[in-house]
Amino acid sequence: GQLHGAIYQGGGALVGRSGGHGVRGLPAEAGGLLEALAQGERLDHTQWRTLLEARTPALAAEAAQRAAAVRDRIYGKRVFIRGLIEFTNYCKNDCYYCGIRHGNRATSRYRLTEDEILACCRAGYALGFRTFVLQGGEDPYFTDARLVRLVSAIKREFPSCALTLSVGERPQESYAALRAAGADRYLLRHETANAAHYRRLHPENQRLEDRMACLRALKALGYQTGAGFMVGSPGQTLDCLADDLVFLTAFRPEMVGIGPFLPHHQTPFAGEPAGSVEMTLYLLSLVRLALPAVLLPATTALGTAAGDGRERGVQAGANVVMPNLSPAGVREKYMLYDNKISTGSEAAECLDELRQRMQAIGYTVAVDRGDFAGISEGKV
Ligand code: 5AD
Repeated sequence: GQLHGAIYQGGGALVGRSGGHGVRGLPAEAGGLLEALAQGERLDHTQWRTLLEARTPALAAEAAQRAAAVRDRIYGKRVFIRGLIEFTNYCKNDCYYCGIRHGNRATSRYRLTEDEILACCRAGYALGFRTFVLQGGEDPYFTDARLVRLVSAIKREFPSCALTLSVGERPQESYAALRAAGADRYLLRHETANAAHYRRLHPENQRLEDRMACLRALKALGYQTGAGFMVGSPGQTLDCLADDLVFLTAFRPEMVGIGPFLPHHQTPFAGEPAGSVEMTLYLLSLVRLALPAVLLPATTALGTAAGDGRERGVQAGANVVMPNLSPAGVREKYMLYDNKISTGSEAAECLDELRQRMQAIGYTVAVDRGDFAGISEGKV
């Protein structure tokens, strides 16, 4: 009903009427759908699928241009940085795609001490970081008591900084305790909104409903909440991606992480092909158009898949980059996929290189918390 407003008249061509192709040589229906998105309309599954199927270089360029304009209007030509601290690579889960899965006995495991983590934050603060992201596998060593202590210590020493957690699925009471201790944001990619695809990517004890319940709990607790997914993971179809877009536009997370799937040689998906950089960029643009104020990183996976992935991500509508602030000695142990980069503009200590690269495409790296600029929903 309300999905079809004045702009998009279900299946009709709005941009031009010249035999299926509208202005700028775009398929008329896809052009109309981009326009509908730009007008704030919500698309249904079929419409998202149409837009995904219609992807051509010209349509992707049009989407990117519109997405960049939306991002510039809300955030300006500023890119936010987050210092990523990968503090443990122990994980009890066995996600088929992930290099630090429990079943990978060849990975050498580490966990940082509270002092080491605080030292990372100090180094990051001096470099200009005002958001720290604590990311780790689902490591039972980090009980609520230990994590609450850690969060409290970071917020006490850096009260002007935002703290983001990315430590997977936990009980609601755990999320509540961490929020009370001062955590501001939480990243938990939904991975795929399609139940059959979720089962293809995870063992049976990991359930999409649990993941979704966690995301709802996080949002209700007032976290700026991040969802997201990989592009081109085994078994993913355009229908799966349409499901992801329907989910994201209903849930309206403050942050969305999207990167290409990249194989890791010690996982069940070792022989699977990598996801497409172009499709990833197109999805970044579509998500920016659907959720104008979203905090959208040009991810490490995108930067790994293409040397200029960060720049192209920003040009497609992203406005966040998350350089690695982990101690140099552990970086190569946090290998979610093969060849994961952690040098150059990917490294926190090389922030100047990132600054130069962003300046070269007309953007500046912002030294502030970089909070969500829209109206957060779901708060109780
Ligand atoms: N390729 C790309 N991204 C991956 N992730 C995990 N493994 C891979 C991989 N092989 C992503 C997941 C996870 C995030 C931390 O990293 O989406 O949520």
